[in-house]
Amino acid sequence: MSEHGQAEGAPAPVEGARVLVVDDDLSLREFLTILLERDGYAVRAVASGEEALAEAERDWPDLVLTDLNMPGIDGLELLGALKERGARAGRDVEVIVVTAYGSTASAVEAMKLGAADYVTKPFNNDELRLLVRRALGRRALEAENLRLKAALQGRYHFGNLVGSSPAMQEVYDLIRRVKDTRISCLITGETGTGKEMIARAIHFSGVRADHPFVAVNCGAIPENLVESELFGHVKGAFTGAVRDKTGLIVSAHRGTLFLDEVNSLPLAQQVKLLRAIQERRVTPVGGTREIEVDVRILAASNADLEDVVARGEFREDLYYRLNVVQIAVPPLRERPADLVELVRHFVRHFAEEYGKPVTGVSPDALDRLKAWPFPGNVRELQNTIERAVALCAGPVIGVEDLPPRLARSMSAEVTEEVPRFPPEGVNLDAMLARFERRWLLAALEASGGNKTQAAGLLGMSFRSYRYRLAKHGLDG
Ligand SMILES: Nc1ncnc2c1ncn2[C@@H]1O[C@H](COP(=O)(O)OP(=O)(O)OP(=O)(O)O)[C@@H](O)[C@H]1O
Ligand SMILES: [Mg+2]
Repeated sequence: MSEHGQAEGAPAPVEGARVLVVDDDLSLREFLTILLERDGYAVRAVASGEEALAEAERDWPDLVLTDLNMPGIDGLELLGALKERGARAGRDVEVIVVTAYGSTASAVEAMKLGAADYVTKPFNNDELRLLVRRALGRRALEAENLRLKAALQGRYHFGNLVGSSPAMQEVYDLIRRVKDTRISCLITGETGTGKEMIARAIHFSGVRADHPFVAVNCGAIPENLVESELFGHVKGAFTGAVRDKTGLIVSAHRGTLFLDEVNSLPLAQQVKLLRAIQERRVTPVGGTREIEVDVRILAASNADLEDVVARGEFREDLYYRLNVVQIAVPPLRERPADLVELVRHFVRHFAEEYGKPVTGVSPDALDRLKAWPFPGNVRELQNTIERAVALCAGPVIGVEDLPPRLARSMSAEVTEEVPRFPPEGVNLDAMLARFERRWLLAALEASGGNKTQAAGLLGMSFRSYRYRLAKHGLDG
């Protein structure tokens, strides 16, 4: 039995769907034709990208399965050309690309160009058939859904995610493209930006929704327990292992494993995790038998993982495995349009929860909210609004219902008055440098040494803050 088997919930083959196989290797072409014909598709096979385009013009296919490496027009070019011609003629085609083992970069490129999925050589026959079936089934369904949804709201939303800034639209677009695949995604962003919500949206809107979503906070499990939590253990593996324990990876079988704060995963476990992902098998602590698993991995980090890799604290090979597609969520202060939508959303939500007739926010209060850099991002905004709704005496939230730090935030600009001007003049650059240095340090102190938060307090990006610290010799 294959590791995928006949996955539950997978659509039946779409009888008679037109499939075009493109491969310069004759034996593979023939093999794929036979394999797919057996599922009832009308299969044509050609040996090059050029022939594929001609064939597509003659009779537009529903799905193209193409090799990436071919002389002449290669798989990526073919994909681009098909998508472009399709768009021009108002018809779409699903494209699945076949990549050589280890060429993750081209798989990512293909997904960006709109491929439905990719499969790595040597592939598993059942996996390939399943991907084809899914892409074709989804095509029918998605066309209908997208039409309905687009008509209803003019854009795509996922789960309970609020916000329609361009940045969030990009996030929704990525979610839509990866949700029905097994592709590993790394979700990055400051604390409170909604990384876990996005992971849930991917899982619950995708083909794995009927199977478990298992979230693991890698930073919260004591280091000596990580291994048995993730991989499980057998009875007697160590003192205290009084019975067999199923690991979290196995309990996510057929579903999604969400590795939160993945940057905190100890190096020893990183090796074992990488092996589990590559081989789709895990060995419990103290066990000898391997267990086959089919999990989709999503990971989140609020530290810059590339930095962690550079410091030697995170394995580069695992990083590439997790980061096939990256979903970067910008901090709230960089998407002011979302702030207004989120305020409205949270006011409505908490008014209902607290049973209070609060309907909105006064213009003054909204100005304060807009001026605040929200180092804790959406989570901080959510807490702020919850508190305000709870305190609010009338129907509208006022400045007095906001935390004092917000009410004060606008006055910080005017604390330094121009003193009596000295006749000998001043060195303005040196003065500004001293001023900057004082505020950089004050923010670091106010945030208890957390640089991301300190940057937020100063209304700047982490990178910019780090750059300025270095400029003053305050890093390290
Ligand atoms: N776009 C959004 N729409 C609605 N609510 C959101 C959105 N983004 C975040 N939230 C809310 O903000 C809170 C924090 O979100 P979440 O836990 O997903 O953030 P996170 O990025 O995982 O944070 P951390 O890095 O601290 O773990 C949650 O209560 C979530 O409901
Ligand atoms: Mg989180």
